Amino acid sequence: MCGIVGYKGKQQPKDFLLEGLKNLEYRGYDSSGIALKNDDEIQIIRSVGKISSLEEKVNNENLINCSMGIAHTRWATHGIPSEENAHPHRVGNVTLVHNGIIENASELKEELLKENVVFNSETDTEVACAIINKYYEGNAVEAINRAIKVLKGSYAFCIFFEDSDKLYAVRKDSPLIIGYGEEEVYVASDIAAIISYTNKYSLIEENEIVEIGDRVTVTLDGNVVNKEVLTATISADSKDKCGYEHYMLKEIMEEPLVLEKTLKPYIDNLDKLPDLTEYEEIHIVACGSAMYAGMIGKTLIEENTNLRVTVEVASEYRYKKVIYDRKTLVILISQSGETADTIAAMRKAKMAGIETLAIVNVVGSTIARESGNQLFIEAGPEIAVATTKAYMLQVAMLSLLAYKAALSSGLVNDSVMNEIKIVPRMVREILDRRDDYLEIAKSIYERDDIFFIGRKIDYAVSMEGSLKLKEVSYIHSEAYQAGELKHGTISLVDDGTPVISIITDKDIKEKTISNVQEVKARGAKCIIISNEEITGYDHLIQVPKMSDFFQPLVVVPCLQLIAYEVAKLRGCDIDKPKNLAKSVTVE
Ligand code: F6R
Repeated sequence: MCGIVGYKGKQQPKDFLLEGLKNLEYRGYDSSGIALKNDDEIQIIRSVGKISSLEEKVNNENLINCSMGIAHTRWATHGIPSEENAHPHRVGNVTLVHNGIIENASELKEELLKENVVFNSETDTEVACAIINKYYEGNAVEAINRAIKVLKGSYAFCIFFEDSDKLYAVRKDSPLIIGYGEEEVYVASDIAAIISYTNKYSLIEENEIVEIGDRVTVTLDGNVVNKEVLTATISADSKDKCGYEHYMLKEIMEEPLVLEKTLKPYIDNLDKLPDLTEYEEIHIVACGSAMYAGMIGKTLIEENTNLRVTVEVASEYRYKKVIYDRKTLVILISQSGETADTIAAMRKAKMAGIETLAIVNVVGSTIARESGNQLFIEAGPEIAVATTKAYMLQVAMLSLLAYKAALSSGLVNDSVMNEIKIVPRMVREILDRRDDYLEIAKSIYERDDIFFIGRKIDYAVSMEGSLKLKEVSYIHSEAYQAGELKHGTISLVDDGTPVISIITDKDIKEKTISNVQEVKARGAKCIIISNEEITGYDHLIQVPKMSDFFQPLVVVPCLQLIAYEVAKLRGCDIDKPKNLAKSVTVE
């Protein structure tokens, strides 16, 4: 969600800035822009739509000779996607790009209007720009420091001033890093933007002000901060599609490999995992797919231990009344580690003195740094906006946690552990059946509505199957507990309506099959995913039978590939579905 890159060095920054923006495309955006500066001039170019249209505009302009610039991809919050609302914004002396939301922008704007400030956009960013300009009397750090005391909300800013040749950056609740090259310094929302230029970087902490001149100086409230220089472990090729047509497909195909990498340390030593049975209650809090991974975790833990588990959407949990009257562990799940609502939920639990455990992909992200304990999934960079491999690993990590809790409760034996070793191989076999998924996709891609049904763990898995399909293919889709469909929604089922049923839980299998019969009787096209042979329906994908703990891991890839093939047949922009952002850093 929004991306920032900045450059100060010896070269013309255009190529770096455009490449940096392309590397951040996966975060989601609807407009973009760049600003270049030399001693005499500031040049701002902005465009709506794809970065290619910005690139075309930039290439058609006579660019100023310079060695400093900033650039931005915007995901609209205040004001429609338009050239006026795109960043960079300039007010007086100040030009900047911004990620986040300034919550008190309307009040500040009213005051500034009384002071005759003229605004050219509907954005909160232009208000922040005007505030910094208001406080600027020749000392940039002081102006930024005063402004951030007034601005409420979240921000990552990269800024330059008309009468200075330095570049500045500051952040709160929205990520930003500094990268170090040979005689050049970069600012970026994440390492993926700059990894082809450098792997040396520092994290900018909340409200530290970065001043980039001939050297980099970082201060917090006027005191100099020495920054640790980190080395990124991702490689530049992890951003390549490696011959796959889409990142989504590449990332699904990586699942066996990343599963192996993530699970290995715990297969070798389960003691590395926390024991959930030390708690009386578990709250799993996350957003979107991560929350659906949590639903699988809840089912596995509750079915196999005597623990109480709730799963909450983070945007609700952060504001609702939560009673912490038992020894509670709050598990936060987040691929990016930067989801605003999940961060807020984590801070709420911490404020109440509750222990937190994060299941997170990005090392160095806010959730990774602030949570009490962390379990890192080893997904590597996930570029496609719709999550696949990271979700798979979140499920795998929760399966291990549930298994360990069941072992501690004495409710299972340790023979199950041998099975986890074969999961990556099983997943590889499932992924190889591309023709089956394509055949199913061909039979459903022209429909307007698709339903997923399942009971218990199968329902938990189907929720993500439905989300994946709708977000990449734009087909309306819903997941239902199989027994619930007839309480209303079945009225939407008619001739040919696809109903994808997941049937792996042996205890409840017959009940779900009865529900499939009900939709079949109303003309539905019945697609079954099961670990048993179930005949008499339109399609069957038979997956290997696994222990309950690991069964979802062989169903998930089938659903992801069906969603992928449907989206491809519909000609959708698979890696960047409309309106979606990868890292949702605003509420
Ligand atoms: C859907 C998807 C989102 C994310 C959600 C949480 O494909 O990717 O639903 O799962 O926005 O993001 P993280 O895991 O980064 O907190």
